[in-house]
Formats: sequence, C-alpha cells, structure tokens
Amino acid sequence: MHRPLLHPDAPPSPSKIECEAERLFRALLHVDCEPGRTWDYEACHRIAPLTLEINRLKKEKDAVILTHSYVEPEIIYGVGDFKGDSYFLSLQAREAKAKVIVFAGVVFMGETAKILSPGATVVVPDRGSGCSLADSLTGDQLRKLKAAYPDAAVVCYINSTAEVKAESDVCVTSGNAYDIVARLPQRRILFVPDRLMGENLRIELKRRGVDKEIITSDGTCIVHDVFDAKSVAEARVRFPGLKVVAHPECTPEVAAAADFVGSTGAMMKYVKQTAAPYFLMLTECGLVGRLQVEAPEKHFIGGCRLCPYMKLNSLEKIHEALAAPRPDQIILLDEGLRHRALRSIERMFELTPKT
Ligand code: 13P
Ligand code: SF4
Repeated sequence: MHRPLLHPDAPPSPSKIECEAERLFRALLHVDCEPGRTWDYEACHRIAPLTLEINRLKKEKDAVILTHSYVEPEIIYGVGDFKGDSYFLSLQAREAKAKVIVFAGVVFMGETAKILSPGATVVVPDRGSGCSLADSLTGDQLRKLKAAYPDAAVVCYINSTAEVKAESDVCVTSGNAYDIVARLPQRRILFVPDRLMGENLRIELKRRGVDKEIITSDGTCIVHDVFDAKSVAEARVRFPGLKVVAHPECTPEVAAAADFVGSTGAMMKYVKQTAAPYFLMLTECGLVGRLQVEAPEKHFIGGCRLCPYMKLNSLEKIHEALAAPRPDQIILLDEGLRHRALRSIERMFELTPKT
C-alpha cells in the first residue's frame, strides 16, 4: 500500500487531493488491503494524486477503463468506468465509442476487446498478465483436436487466445456456457480449454436432460482448481449457516459441495440477494473486495485465492498505459485472424438468452 507520490507537471491542489482521498475512502473503507486491515484515509490520500491524474488523462485521451472484478478495488472504484464479468465487459467493449480502451484484467480480455472494437487503441497495463487457461492451448493444438473430432461443434471458453477463438464455432463465458451448448444442434461438443468447466458442463447438461457428449482439452485455472470439497465440509462445521459460492472453473466435487455455482457476476448477485451469517467465496479475492464495497453488511470467512495474473494490474501501470503506452502494452491483431475470432464471439451474443 506504500505507493510513490506522483508529480504531474501541474500537481492538483491540496483541497482537490483531499476531496479525492475522501471519495476513495468512502468507497474502500470496508475493503481488506492486507489480512486483518482495511483501507485507511492516509492510504487513500497517498493514491489520490494518481487516481486524479488517471481520471484527467481519460478525458484528455478519450479513454475508457474496463475493470474485471478480480483486479484491486482501488482500480475498480478509483478509476474504472465499467466493472464486471467477462461477458458484461465484452458487451461494453463492443459498445465503446472511446478512442482508447484500457483493459484492467488479463491479456485475453484485452484481445477480446480489440476483436470487438478494432477502431480503438486497446491497451493492457501488463503484457505478462496471461491466464493458465488461455495459455494452455494454441491454435495449432486446437486444429489437431478438430481433425480428430471433425463432427464436433467447437466451443471455446472466452478464457482463450484470439487464435483459439478464430478456430472455434462459438465462444462462451461462465455465465452463458450451459445455455449456449444446450442450443447447439450438434450432439458432440469439443469444449476448450477448460477441462473442469467442461466436466461441470457435462454434469449440468445431464441434470437438465440435455444429451451432449463433451470432449475437453486439458487446461485448468490455477486459482480455482485447488479448492477442495474436504475444506468446504470443514468450514460448514465451523460456521453453521454458511453459504458456499463457487465458480464453474472449480472441480465438479467442489461445485457439488457448493450452494451456488456461477460466473463472477452471478456470484455477486447471489450473495447480495441471500441472507446468511457467513459466505465462503471459492474464487479470486478481488470478488470479495467488490462485495465488501457493495454489500458491507455481509461476512466472508476467507478462503479466496489470488490470481497472480490479475494482480499484475496496478494504478501505476494503468497510468503508464494511458499516458504513453509502450508497444508491449498495445494489443495488435492480424485482421484476418480478428475477423475469424469475431465470428465466434458474435455467435455467442446471438445465442445468449436475453434476460
Ligand atoms: P467470469 O467471466 O465469471 O468473470 O470469469 C473470468 C475468470 O477469469 C474467472 O477465473
Ligand atoms: Fe485465468 Fe484463473 Fe486468473 Fe481467471 S483466475 S484469469 S481463469 S488464471
């Protein structure tokens, strides 16, 4: 939390900084910044010159900042324009009219934004912000799998590279995968790159009475694949009335042990609408941060995990990417590849049930 002070050419006045520090403090006061410690006014005062400068630059550059719910809350509530899950942020990227899109998330999300908004300059704060799922499968590997299952519909989870999207019939997110796969005419589905989500999909479709054969590749999310059902059972003994909330990237055993399984957006909605003494969030800790801001009356018992890729985002790097992006921060895609990847994402929008 000890950040260097920013010294822009014309530094904001002390009263402007105080005003910004108060705004940040009001948003962040219930959020853990370290285990057992929440944000204090001093920490907010320290980052206020930077959030002021980023928000000023956004106007100057005609930029919009999209923030996934897993990034640090000072980014989401300090400088973000839109916050949410992968599906919601894809919609925002498609609708964006801004000249610059800063994607505070991971690289595949920035690529998706570029696929949907080719006219905008899309930047990511840190090019190293990969994803164990997206990085588990190349376009070449998918081409080989397709050759082995030529009759299968190819469904890619959005946590995949642009190349994999370009090889797929339809893209899905954690929020619409069941509905989209159920609607596809093919019985055989090649689902990539998340093996565990594929297994959860198989189980859920069977439960809904939908007859599909799901073949998967072997990727997993390094954040979600380590939660275990035994710890869930132990937590239920220690915290009577506990509600357990899991992401579909968890194992089927964990999904079966949870009270609710859904996308990060659906998990937030569930917690806000559910009365329970405690919640165990089997997902990335950023989501707990968002809930501490938006549902401060709820109690969380820990157990969440950090995504090392999402945590590469910072206010300082967002500032760099906005002020003068380095070439590695700018997402560029071959136009032919972009067009082919766009088809699978557009198909997702067509097949997602309208709520
Ligand atoms: P959501 O689409 O549910 O936000 O998931 C993104 C992600 O990376 C989960 O690990
Ligand atoms: Fe990828 Fe998992 Fe991180 Fe999500 S939480 S970005 S799936 S590594």
